[in-house]
Amino acid sequence: MLEVSINFKKEYPNVEKYYEGIWRYHKFLPPVNEIVSLGEGNTPLIKSKQHQNLYYKFEGSNPTGSFKDRGMSFAISLAKSNNVKKIIVASTGNTAASASAYSARAGIECYVILPKGKVAKGKLMQSILHGAKIIEIEGNFDLALKSVFERIKENKIIYPLNSFNPWRLEGQKTISLELYEKLNFIDNIIVPVGNAGNISAIWKGFKELHELGLLEKLPKMIGVQAEGAAPLANAWEKSLDKPVFVEQPETKATAIRIGRPVNWQKAMKAVKESEGFFVKVKDEEIIEAQKRLARIEGIGAELASAASYAAFLKIKEKINLNIEKTVLILTGHALKDPESILNNYL
Ligand code: F0G
Repeated sequence: MLEVSINFKKEYPNVEKYYEGIWRYHKFLPPVNEIVSLGEGNTPLIKSKQHQNLYYKFEGSNPTGSFKDRGMSFAISLAKSNNVKKIIVASTGNTAASASAYSARAGIECYVILPKGKVAKGKLMQSILHGAKIIEIEGNFDLALKSVFERIKENKIIYPLNSFNPWRLEGQKTISLELYEKLNFIDNIIVPVGNAGNISAIWKGFKELHELGLLEKLPKMIGVQAEGAAPLANAWEKSLDKPVFVEQPETKATAIRIGRPVNWQKAMKAVKESEGFFVKVKDEEIIEAQKRLARIEGIGAELASAASYAAFLKIKEKINLNIEKTVLILTGHALKDPESILNNYL
């Protein structure tokens, strides 16, 4: 067991309540004065019915339905502790949904910049529901992120909460702490990669456990991208040190429809240091993987999340399933994107 809070009250005098989930690991996180939590983290680890030594970490069961809630809970707590009044994010949908909900909880004004027509309805609905100010732009996520950079240059009082903000990654690294508590060492972690924050955060979590002497063996980080939005996987295939940026990324897995991942340096370092690799999968393979997860395992994951299962099916010959413990990060819930199910399945 990782050490959990005993002196929580003493260390966080302004926090009234002891929280579960990611806040159990507050000793791994920088201090905050105020905690903004909706009960994120502590997500199910589901053993595969079909494959030996395979586990699904189902992040769809977070409060807004994706792993983003871990990072958002921590980053918004810190923002609130520092009296931030306005935040802004660019998003393919889930970051926006999460930012909207946590900002509402914190009483912070939230601006979300979305690529028009390319955000799944469930996610857009969440930003509307939680009362965020929505700005839709013509163009993709990369342009939306560019617009965030421009706006924060002009408006110094608005705080950006995309994953180039390191506090987001602090919250997200708790995925690794939970995995360590349940499984101890793991051989392979397969993670869908978009803006490349999550794979970097997960690696950071494992490295910290390793540096503390708690974890002897680090896992291999395997990053998955959709074929039409694969700047890192394409670079990996060609043994390049830099991504091959994609100007017009295209994939049905809209959550990872990103051509210029802002955290590419951290992600490449994670994959290299861990002796892992990047791999790309076709949209048809992702849809097939989503179906198998849903119809055999009973897990409803959104398309981007199913990319990790598609990658597993593609590379499973490279893994010795008899002995190698493998975890797939299922990043978001199928309910996020009902339209894609109706369009792809009927
Ligand atoms: N899976 C889902 C469901 C996502 O929403 C995202 C990213 C990823 C995987 C990739 O994670 O960006 O850290 O590499 N969604 C962001 C968003 C871009 O705006 O919601 P990443």
